[in-house]
Amino acid sequence: MKVIRKVSEMQQLALQFKKRDKKIGFVPTMGFLHEGHQSLMQSAREESDIVVVSVFVNPLQFGPNEDFERYPRDEQRDIDTAEKNLVDVLFIPELTEMYPSEQSVSLNVSKRSNVLCGRTREGHFEGVVTVLSKLFNITLPDKVYFGMKDAQQIAVVDSLVNDLNFPIEIVPVATVRENDGLAKSSRNIYLTELERKEAKNVYQALQIGLELVIDGEKNPDIIVKEVEDFIVQNTHGTIDYVELLSYPELIQVAAINERVILAVAVQFEHARLIDNIVFDDKGLISKRI
Ligand code: PAJ
Repeated sequence: MKVIRKVSEMQQLALQFKKRDKKIGFVPTMGFLHEGHQSLMQSAREESDIVVVSVFVNPLQFGPNEDFERYPRDEQRDIDTAEKNLVDVLFIPELTEMYPSEQSVSLNVSKRSNVLCGRTREGHFEGVVTVLSKLFNITLPDKVYFGMKDAQQIAVVDSLVNDLNFPIEIVPVATVRENDGLAKSSRNIYLTELERKEAKNVYQALQIGLELVIDGEKNPDIIVKEVEDFIVQNTHGTIDYVELLSYPELIQVAAINERVILAVAVQFEHARLIDNIVFDDKGLISKRI
């Protein structure tokens, strides 16, 4: 496995792969790699000639009061994990390599971003699409792998790729969970012992919402209320949002007659957990975007 730290070197290598007609599968990450990230790497490995993974904690997507400084980092462990997963190229640029000077061009996200996480994380998705546009131009991927854990991110990236004509296929990968259902996340290490026990109830709450739909409930407000009540009764966390929207458009629905996302964000003392499920009006889980 090659570890590359320079933008120019990564881009040159990607161009060489392209010349040799190699299909590049790309997995962008912020590191502290866990089984969720590994699942993306494995999907990329199955479908690509060359697998490129990036590790870069992107300051542009963190708000002033968010955890950029204390975001968990462990470079050596990331290198070992990528190697174990048969990654060909690990791209780990320094901050100054990605942003040598203040950006003079920025991207604006006007749809799919004013709901769910976008409501409270101002500028977050602008930061995500900016760094991804750079990474796409640097790694020249054919397919890019994203986790459904961050379903809104996939919806926004879907718009980015369509609006700006990136010749890229977005591949969504199912959320990898702990045995009790908690979605794997780099931020789970911030949970106290009690919070970790309660955290499984975030996924449990989504399941309760899904059961209601399977039982024929069509009213989004009733489902949202049940999910909220369950979280309030079974965790000490504070609900940031529980929303049920069309997917991937992320628009309010009057009744569940189409593909929807049921998404939650719960703030615990030192960690904000997000989770979601995407399903149709029969309650069938969807893996597509
Ligand atoms: P990060 O949080 O490191 O996540 C990288 C990728 O791993 C994302 O596509 C995310 O959805 C996926 N992922 C995280 N937890 C997962 C899980 N439990 N199951 C399946 N996939 C999971 O998302 C980002 O980084 C950044 O916003 C990035 C896209 C790298 C841009 O900076």
